[in-house]
Amino acid sequence: MAPVRWKVSALALTLVCVMGSAAGQCTIPTDFHGDYYWMQNDGSDTNTVINQNLWGDLSCISIKMHENSLSNVEGVNATMLMKKIQETPKPGETTSSACYLCVDVLYRTKNILQVRRSGCFTSMETGFQRMCPGYDKLPSVDQVKTYFLQNLKTVNCITTFEGVYQFTYEVAWGGGGICDNLDSQVKACQDPGSAYVDNEVFFMTYARCWDVQTSMSQTIRYQCMGSWFAMVGQTGYTFAAIADTVEKDRREKFKCLLTLKNQKSADNTIRWIMSRFAKCDRLNSLYDGPVRLVLRRIPPRSVFITPQCNLPRNISGEWYTQGIQFKSKVIINDTHIKYFTRKNEFEYEETYLSCQQTLGTRYLMTKVIVGKCETDFVCYDIIPRHHGIVRYRVGKPSRLTDDEMAQANFMQRKFRETCSWMSFTFNRNDTDWKYEVLILDPPSPVTCPIGGRYKFDQWANGMLEKYATRIRGVTDRPRVQVDCRIIISEMKSCSQDRSRIEVDAEYCEAVDYRGRPIGEYDEPDHIMTCVGFWMEDMRSYLITYDEEDAISKFRCWVYERVSWTEMQLSRSQTARCQRGQRSSDFQMEGTGLMMYLSENERLFDDCPQRFDPGINPYSKATVIYVLSAAPSLFSAIVIINTAICVTISSLLLL
Ligand SMILES: *[C@@H]1O[C@H](CO)[C@@H](O)[C@H](O)[C@H]1NC(C)=O
Ligand SMILES: *[C@@H]1O[C@H](CO)[C@@H](O)[C@H](O)[C@H]1NC(C)=O
Ligand SMILES: *[C@@H]1O[C@H](CO)[C@@H](O)[C@H](O)[C@H]1NC(C)=O
Ligand SMILES: *[C@@H]1O[C@H](CO)[C@@H](O)[C@H](O)[C@H]1NC(C)=O
Repeated sequence: MAPVRWKVSALALTLVCVMGSAAGQCTIPTDFHGDYYWMQNDGSDTNTVINQNLWGDLSCISIKMHENSLSNVEGVNATMLMKKIQETPKPGETTSSACYLCVDVLYRTKNILQVRRSGCFTSMETGFQRMCPGYDKLPSVDQVKTYFLQNLKTVNCITTFEGVYQFTYEVAWGGGGICDNLDSQVKACQDPGSAYVDNEVFFMTYARCWDVQTSMSQTIRYQCMGSWFAMVGQTGYTFAAIADTVEKDRREKFKCLLTLKNQKSADNTIRWIMSRFAKCDRLNSLYDGPVRLVLRRIPPRSVFITPQCNLPRNISGEWYTQGIQFKSKVIINDTHIKYFTRKNEFEYEETYLSCQQTLGTRYLMTKVIVGKCETDFVCYDIIPRHHGIVRYRVGKPSRLTDDEMAQANFMQRKFRETCSWMSFTFNRNDTDWKYEVLILDPPSPVTCPIGGRYKFDQWANGMLEKYATRIRGVTDRPRVQVDCRIIISEMKSCSQDRSRIEVDAEYCEAVDYRGRPIGEYDEPDHIMTCVGFWMEDMRSYLITYDEEDAISKFRCWVYERVSWTEMQLSRSQTARCQRGQRSSDFQMEGTGLMMYLSENERLFDDCPQRFDPGINPYSKATVIYVLSAAPSLFSAIVIINTAICVTISSLLLL
């Protein structure tokens, strides 16, 4: 029996050795190392130094690294079983029993850990997994303490704040109310790629409100500690931590912030909640917290907002422009251009340009975007207005550096740099540029460049693009219930109102015995007003307006005359024609419909054919030449009458 017993004890020995080595191998991940500050529940300050082996006065026994579900996040989350290091008992004292505890760590940023510590277990008999609930499920935000790294590692502020804001603030202690002073501002200006410290700090200026006791007058320079995303209940919030590097009171030095990304507030404001002390646990909604901030974007302060020159007189007014991605409302007065661009239903962007220098058609403007830090110089090349259309080009933006500003004639230099014709071509290979277009809004009608009565065939990229019959409201006279033999698609712009194009997808073309249309009560499906047209790069463009168009009120068309009696039109989905769009395009992205028109005037239509390719859009409408008109019966009768009269009178004379 002896050998067997020996074997068993050998096994036990090996087990002990294995366990011992496992405990020794438990190293705390480097992501957690550092000297941290955190606040206990009772508000007392605590320091915890974490290194490879020790977590304050705890040593690591076992560690479980939690699987990182997202590949793009740095750091690790871990649950550790730890043991309190026993001080050697002083003579006469009895040794206190062992203390094992569980520590769950959520790695948030380089500077922030969130930690849950359990109470003491006297033994670890039940095993790591049973003892520590965090082994299977990490704690939620209300169960953790936030650890702030004392020697901050630098992180970029861009995920916390970016831009210039005015803010209102309200503090939950001491009473008072909302302090709304225009001088309360957050200035978080980034210098892309710069190695300077301004990427990592931002300034918060609190201004006093005389009626709010808790308001203060102070500018604080905060250093960013990073931001993270966490669920509070069912909502995912963005948290951020910041440090006031000069504050001595450590409880007030670190602050935790909470916001919701993509807040959809109608007035474009952004809400933040800020803690008073170095804690994140009292932040759990956008409307309730120690400090409530409401931020509003403002234009950066710059001396270059004051205008120095005038824009062309006749472009003042309200305009509409369709960019590649967004459409904007443009408001122009003598000196300023303002773009109001909706990014989505709630968010918008405002850009102000102010005229600084001009030469010919070129205007050097300064550009500021509300909420952004930079002031840029850009050059506008504005073609004289025609119809309700202004065409322009924007050059490469350029920023004024401090060095340049120190030079005496820097404005001249800036003009030469920004307004040189070369600066309008972003890429030299890109010779196929087009002018941007401003459309007067609300539009004023102009004579359409295409006139006459046509039947058409349409090619569409999808059924929705096609013109189809629709009943436009209640007809004032009921339709005549006639059986129509000939139904065609009709497009016309006749003499009654030459600034309108009427489209009827199913028009009854049959005429009665007098040659009058029996479909005379037919209502056109769509009525478009012509707003302007021009020729650019040998292509004719037309802008129309249709208030009832659900996709885009303004539409851009490329039109072309194919023969004496036929035309071809390509309709764009928006007010912007595609760069390479030809009159035959309908499958190109951004287009969708092509129409082929054939002249189809009937005896009583009074709808002569007109065509203007837009070569000189400045010419007056009266020079549009009529290609052919149906002989008018009335004038024929007059001629016959005159002829008869002449004959009679000559007979009488005889
Ligand atoms: C750590 O856990 C939190 C909360 O579950 C999670 O949001 C975060 O992405 C995790 N971090 C890593 C590095 O896995
Ligand atoms: C032109 O518009 C700007 C910006 O909207 C405004 O500040 C300025 O006072 C206006 N100028 C005139 C002459 O109305
Ligand atoms: C606007 O003014 C320019 C000259 O400043 C002129 O060439 C152009 O024809 C004018 N356009 C209209 C529509 O009045
Ligand atoms: C311009 O075209 C040339 C030759 O086709 C090419 O080598 C060059 O990379 C292009 N440059 C840009 C900026 O696209």
